[in-house]
Amino acid sequence: MLSRDDVFDELGIGPVWRLRDIPATPSLASQVPSAYTWDQLADAVAHCTACKLHTTRTQGVLGVGDRTADWLIIGEAPGAEEDARGEPFVGQAGKLLDAMLAAIDLRRGDNVYITNVLKSRPPGNRNPEPDEVAACRPYLLAQIELIQPKLILALGRFAAQSLLDTDEAISRLRGRVHRFRNVPLVVTYHPAYLLRNLPDKARAWEDLCLARRTMQALITA
Ligand code: URA
Repeated sequence: MLSRDDVFDELGIGPVWRLRDIPATPSLASQVPSAYTWDQLADAVAHCTACKLHTTRTQGVLGVGDRTADWLIIGEAPGAEEDARGEPFVGQAGKLLDAMLAAIDLRRGDNVYITNVLKSRPPGNRNPEPDEVAACRPYLLAQIELIQPKLILALGRFAAQSLLDTDEAISRLRGRVHRFRNVPLVVTYHPAYLLRNLPDKARAWEDLCLARRTMQALITA
């Protein structure tokens, strides 16, 4: 019988990484029982005052999509349109994200859940600050516990670095499979960055193909 790593070999995933190289640990769910139900989580985010962003945001933006999705997409933080509408990735970057998902036969809401590291908009779209990331982290962890995704796709430098707790450049984080809380994680460029840097779309396509191959292998194994 083929092992999981044999399947990766079959798929032509190079020697850069293998599941066998990634330490196996018990799943997140078996380590930490979820602290929240979905209703409690939505309520907590809606009323959160854990960081200063609650004074400037319109509303907390929890996430959108299939709550039993295999795919969890994580961006940085809500922008102006997301803050107004209460849904992640609804602006120009969101349109490109939808196109990126469509390119690998995925649709928002169908086996896909989309959220951000921060649930509240930083004013003027400034970068998230460390205390804000720390204050929001329990919500992201609770989402992962509830969803139990098979794979995380981290969008952009900020999401990748804060999830992987590293300051390595995104160019070095791409192209291999990491783990966040034992969930395989693939890094790609943020759609807002791609809107300004069209040549990197080809690299993003490679990342999406890696994510898709990884998911296929995880499902097959
Ligand atoms: N950029 C993000 O990182 N998240 C959003 O929800 C919108 C834009």
